[in-house]
Amino acid sequence: MTTLADMAVEVLSTGDGREKTALARRHAATWRASREAGTPLEIGVARPPLRPARPDAPVLLNPRDVPHRKPGTPEGRIALLHAVAHIELNAVDLHWDIIARFSDVPLPVSFYDDWVKAGDEEAKHFNLMADCLEQAGSHYGALPAHAGMWRAAEDTAEDLMGRLAVVPMVLEARGLDVTPNMIAVFRKAGESRAVEALETIYSEEVSHVAYGSKWFHFLCGRHDIDPTATFHGLVRKYFHGALKPPFNEEKRAEAGIPPDFYWPLAKGA
Ligand SMILES: [Fe+2]
Ligand SMILES: [Fe+2]
Repeated sequence: MTTLADMAVEVLSTGDGREKTALARRHAATWRASREAGTPLEIGVARPPLRPARPDAPVLLNPRDVPHRKPGTPEGRIALLHAVAHIELNAVDLHWDIIARFSDVPLPVSFYDDWVKAGDEEAKHFNLMADCLEQAGSHYGALPAHAGMWRAAEDTAEDLMGRLAVVPMVLEARGLDVTPNMIAVFRKAGESRAVEALETIYSEEVSHVAYGSKWFHFLCGRHDIDPTATFHGLVRKYFHGALKPPFNEEKRAEAGIPPDFYWPLAKGA
């Protein structure tokens, strides 16, 4: 019988963006149905690829070589949507990877509920961004995108607490900081479809950060270690560079990330 870990590996092994997200959504529905029926799929054990399959386009460049376009122009807004689409596709893989990668760590079944839900939502987010791009006469793959987004996953491939600290609690929390300004750019341009899509992303990302915080604290409790000091140690070990203020303190609080987690890691702290 197919296990949840097998389904995660299938998502990770699919390259095309629309195919990957369709599969992610289908597998999430299967998992949900099995839970609702009271017969959850087995979690199983799998060997996820070190790097997920990706489409041939976009070309991946070093962040310094990705051309910057002004958000005040239609081209600039397309570039912004393209960058978010790329982040979302990466996020689909990140959430399914956490399901398969650490299947040797015993965890409550609700751990999997949370990441399946997040993996489903990221698939929806990618599709929303791809739809906006297509409506604007472009598509995902039309522009170069950042290489190196998978680095955090590789660096923390052996360390679940490190993964939780860096991916949801640093990278996705950063998304909460920057998304309101992005929404404002599209609102100013009267692009209501993009505004709506980004608002959906913004509200659902709060829960992804919250899942990170919840399971990080759970594991701190299991190992009887101090969450704040542990978080600082793991971020310093695995995350390259300081955290960038301004922080969205309100949404971070809503997601269970208190100020003494991030301020001591901020630039100039
Ligand atoms: Fe997302
Ligand atoms: Fe997310």
